[in-house]
Amino acid sequence: MNTSTSLFSSERGLSSSFSPPMQRCLTLTVGRYSRLLLKKRISSFHCQQSAAMSSLLINQPKYSWLKELGLSEDNPGVYNGSWGGSGEVITSYCPANNEPIARVTQATLAEYEETVQKSKEAWKIWADIPAPKRGEIVRQIGDALRKKIKVLGSLVSLEMGKIYVEGVGEVQEYVDVCDYAVGLSRMIGGPILPSERPGHVLIEQWNPVGLVGIITAFNFPVAVYGWNNAIALICGNVCLWKGAPTTPLTSVAVTKIVAEVLEQNNLPGAICSMTCGGADVGTAMAKDERVDLLSFTGSTHVGKMVAMMVQERFGRKLLELGGNNAIIVFEDADLNLVVPSAVFASVGTAGQRCTTTRRLMLHESVHDTVVERIAKAYKQVRIGDPWDPSTLYGPLHTKQAVEQYLAAVEQAKQQGGTIVCGGKVMDRPGNYVEPTIITGLPHNASIVHTETFVPILYVLKFKTEEEAFVWNNEVQQGLSSSIFTKDMGRVFRWLGPKGSDCGIVNVNIPTSGAEIGGAFGGEKHTGGGRESGSDSWKQYMRRSTCTINYSKDLPLAQGIKFE
Ligand code: UN1
Repeated sequence: MNTSTSLFSSERGLSSSFSPPMQRCLTLTVGRYSRLLLKKRISSFHCQQSAAMSSLLINQPKYSWLKELGLSEDNPGVYNGSWGGSGEVITSYCPANNEPIARVTQATLAEYEETVQKSKEAWKIWADIPAPKRGEIVRQIGDALRKKIKVLGSLVSLEMGKIYVEGVGEVQEYVDVCDYAVGLSRMIGGPILPSERPGHVLIEQWNPVGLVGIITAFNFPVAVYGWNNAIALICGNVCLWKGAPTTPLTSVAVTKIVAEVLEQNNLPGAICSMTCGGADVGTAMAKDERVDLLSFTGSTHVGKMVAMMVQERFGRKLLELGGNNAIIVFEDADLNLVVPSAVFASVGTAGQRCTTTRRLMLHESVHDTVVERIAKAYKQVRIGDPWDPSTLYGPLHTKQAVEQYLAAVEQAKQQGGTIVCGGKVMDRPGNYVEPTIITGLPHNASIVHTETFVPILYVLKFKTEEEAFVWNNEVQQGLSSSIFTKDMGRVFRWLGPKGSDCGIVNVNIPTSGAEIGGAFGGEKHTGGGRESGSDSWKQYMRRSTCTINYSKDLPLAQGIKFE
């Protein structure tokens, strides 16, 4: 894939998703120069299209609630204290019917530049505000989100395609992390350490890094920004957000809520800036020395390119990349917990969470029973419009993801897999595919080791604990993992040095659905970053070791005499 073209799209897993299908094909196949020409053509295509397109969803009475979020037909995609944007106009499509919702005008590189400058100016004010007072602003952001939780959750459902309760759930994650950050604003700090020298004190001082660039993926268009934003803010940083190009309306709606709080407190809006954009804005952020920390959530493929660019300038990065998560079910497992866990973690969000269960390892003694029970449960999953409260399973985010689903099913068959259920595209509008279970593949089949960001569950049969733990760890990614067992010895072997090598290591619960209080992230090709809870705040700050001499002598460390 061409580096500059796919870069920093909302790509997760294998699913790059520059949204309108036509735009996506064009963007992916042309070089830099011709892209510029095409951009103009695409823009004019959109203008013609919009003239013909009287039926943006936002204009239909059924979707008039979108206006409660301050959205309109055309929305500015830049915020830095004031709203603007004069770059490419993108149309956001609803994955459940591929109809256009509304449009957003992205940032030009000149607007990106202006926004970074304003953010840096805003930092001078924000960094001087005491941390607990910054916490008070974050508390207000949490409250403002609470008031809009249903309508914002509905937008997530409409634009991303996840079911309504999951849309609301991820706004709830932002609310929760705000609460968490408020408390943290009175707790962050370092120790005073004993000095070996008389009359000296060693202090660990933590300061904000400055400007935190946040690039998020389509699959959690609210929560992942929230984790970064709330923690970064109480630490004394300002934020610049680029959401996924296929969920721009959510980025705009969230930023409006945050901006209102800042403005009501007479604070510069550029404390929480936003530049909607594609590869050009993403590349600018990765290469920009003024972006003191770049937090990137997306695919391992793109994350690696981001990491290299940030490393090139010795910048800081926080990567939250792919997962290839396994549930391991032992012979003593409570199958009444296993079945709903596996179904939630593999079918939930239509398989588009980084924490989705992609590999289900079953002890040979329970293999057939569990497959039968899960297959039965799959058939009962209610498929429908994601915003319908009774629906459990909605569409994939893009048409491209549908193609990737079909390709993965085909490869799995070629590599020896048997389709137990699913495997087909559904005959209905939107990007719907059947949730799929595939058995019979070897644990090391290349398709099993590939994170395809779709609802395909590979079921593997194992004999021993040792084998299952090795299989868990043999994939490149290291995000989430779960075992189901009642054996306490096994539980602690799983948590220990020879157990799971993932960042998230669970027992008797699914791989997905982590709480915000813990540090979120993973090892190896997952990128190593940690966001949200525990001591993740340290990633948003720089540590100074300060030695202060309050005596009248100058003793040197290690007893050195320099006389
Ligand atoms: C992601 O898929 O990028 O643990 C984040 C979970 C959610 C977050 C997923 N709380 O599934």
